[in-house]
Amino acid sequence: MRLSDCHNFRDFRELARRRLPGPIFNYIDGAADDEVTYCRNTASFEACDLVPNILRGVENVDLSTTVMGQKLALPIYCSPTALQRLFHHQGERAVAAAASQYGTLFGVSSLGTVSLEELRRAYGTPQAYQFYFHKDRGLNRLMLERAKGAGVDVMMLTVDTITGGNRERDLRTGFSIPLRLSLPGLLQFALKPRWACNYLLHERFRLPQLDQHVDMGGGTISIGRYFTEMLDPTMNWDDVAEMVRFWNGQFCLKGVMSVADARRAADIGCTGIILSNHGGRQLDGSRSAFDQLAEIVDAVGDRIDVLMDGGVQRGTHVLKALSLGARAVGVGRYYLFPLAAAGQAGVERALSLMREEIERDMKLMGCTSVDQLSRDNLRFR
Ligand code: FNR
Repeated sequence: MRLSDCHNFRDFRELARRRLPGPIFNYIDGAADDEVTYCRNTASFEACDLVPNILRGVENVDLSTTVMGQKLALPIYCSPTALQRLFHHQGERAVAAAASQYGTLFGVSSLGTVSLEELRRAYGTPQAYQFYFHKDRGLNRLMLERAKGAGVDVMMLTVDTITGGNRERDLRTGFSIPLRLSLPGLLQFALKPRWACNYLLHERFRLPQLDQHVDMGGGTISIGRYFTEMLDPTMNWDDVAEMVRFWNGQFCLKGVMSVADARRAADIGCTGIILSNHGGRQLDGSRSAFDQLAEIVDAVGDRIDVLMDGGVQRGTHVLKALSLGARAVGVGRYYLFPLAAAGQAGVERALSLMREEIERDMKLMGCTSVDQLSRDNLRFR
């Protein structure tokens, strides 16, 4: 199977599965507890039908949207994800390059493996920085100042990881950072020598958003320890309001799910919220962002930009979310599997296929711009 054989999410996932050591594939593919929410994220799109309009003259379609002051050529963006150089040695560089080529935003994770400064210098496309809130308030300020200095366009505070999700696949394989694999996990690495060569022959694995600020011990911090010892489980609305004031720019919360929280985010001055259950990786049994979208758009859509992520695999999924009022839609695994399968070429192919799908689907819906999509185009079963 080659990259040119990949025509959709399932194909990329399969190619990634063949190329990655099992523990790494399962880290990306896995989710919390029984993975009910993970499965529901995509299934909820299928419970909603599109109702097209015809004969509207759809030769030219404009896919652009504006989100938190950023003009995007596509209504999807690459949501921040951790550890990308573990999936392919090009890591964040590949994702940023592809996002830049397709004119969309990419997020850099606090647990990213390329520095936000390097990515900012290399690519002009809008960049979000995904932030975790530390117990050490001085450190939080320092990191915000660093991101400001680097020219980050959007600050994205993840609020659904107040404690780690129960990822049972990782418990079984022994996946952790630094890698401490179980014997079966180790054997799976031995089966993928090509991945191992790439990993070992390229620059050392680092977490450059953190290693200036956090004691990295033997070269890599344990992520488990980072979450339990350094992040602040007492984080509350007053802390975030202060952060919003300090940042004094585009600021969104990632992981909002309730109407009350959405209202509160608008009240404290956030310019966006991202409905998300972290790809099903945190609270299993949590509702899908798509199912929760209409309520939240109705409550705050006229005050702040409402975005969503989770389970997006098709252009039609994006159209459904936009029809309910999302300003843009984030993807995670949709670009991570292509990254693992083929680096930058893989992510570019995935974004190209998504762009083609969205454009084709817009024409079939009778729409020439994303703001023409409305709830009249949807029926829930
Ligand atoms: C994530 N996600 C994530 N979110 C975040 O705020 N910080 C992070 O470091 C990560 N890391 C991460 C790693 C991996 C392997 C995955 C799959 C996801 C969540 C991500 O930004 C996004 O919310 C989900 O991936 C969306 O769901 P889909 O598109 O993967 O179904």
